[in-house]
Amino acid sequence: PTRQFFVGGNFKLNPGTLQAKKDIVEILNKADIDTSAEVVIAPPSLYLLPLQQILRKEIKVAAQNSYLKTSGAFTGEISPTQLADAGIPYVILGHSERRTIFNETSDVVAQKTRAALDAGLSVILCVGETLKEREANQTKQVVEDQLKPVVDILKENDWSKIVVAYEPVWAIGTGKVATSAQAQEAHADIRTFLSSAVSSSVAEATRILYGGSVTASNCKELGNQKDVDGFLVGGASLKPEFVDIINARR
Ligand code: G3H
Repeated sequence: PTRQFFVGGNFKLNPGTLQAKKDIVEILNKADIDTSAEVVIAPPSLYLLPLQQILRKEIKVAAQNSYLKTSGAFTGEISPTQLADAGIPYVILGHSERRTIFNETSDVVAQKTRAALDAGLSVILCVGETLKEREANQTKQVVEDQLKPVVDILKENDWSKIVVAYEPVWAIGTGKVATSAQAQEAHADIRTFLSSAVSSSVAEATRILYGGSVTASNCKELGNQKDVDGFLVGGASLKPEFVDIINARR
C-alpha cells in the first residue's frame, strides 16, 4: 500500500513556557527529517498560532480538541471553523483523556468529527481499549463500538480526511508499549472493520497510527508492521528523540 507515513506529536497540557515550546520547534526546524513523512505537532491551543508561524513548512499543527458546534454560547470551547479560519489543518478528536476525564462519549466524538470535517479540518481520530477490556478479550469490540458512530455520521469520501490513531489506554504515558504483534493485530482488525463498515478502498487508504509509549527505541519495529502507518506520540514528542521517531522508516 502507498499510505504516507504519518507522525503526530501531542504535547497535551504539558508545562513549559511559549519559549520552551519554541525551543522544541527550533530543534525540529533544524533537524534532518524524512520529508516523505507527514508530520504534525499538537501544542496547547494558545500556542497554535505562534508556533505555526515559526514552523518549517513541512510540519503542520493540530489542535488537541474542538467543539461540535461552530459558534454560540459555549464558554471555553474551541470552534472548528475558527481553527480552519486560522489555517490550522488538523484536530485530534476522541483522545482517551477526553473520553475518560471529560466524559466524551463516542457519539459526541462522532458529532465533533462531523463538525470538524464540515469546517474543512482533517481529523486524527483516537480509539483504544483499557487494560480491563483487553484482559477481558474485548479489544476488537471496544474499538469497533468507538468507531461505529463515526462510520454512521460520515460519508465515504469524508474518510480521506481521517487518520485513525489506535491508542491502548494502558500504554499511554505508562512506558508499557504494546508489542508489535499486539499493535499489528489491533490495526489489522480496524482495517477489516473499515472494509466491511465503509469500503475496501477506504480501509486500504486510511492511515492507522499507533500511540502509547512510543520512543526512539521501539518505533522502528512498530513502524515496520504491515498495518502500522505511523505514530501519535505524547511524552517523546517533547524531546529531541521525536526526530528519530519521525525518521522511523528511514
Ligand atoms: O496522544 C498521544 C498518546 O496519548 C501517547 O502518549 O506517548 O506519552 O504514551 P505517550
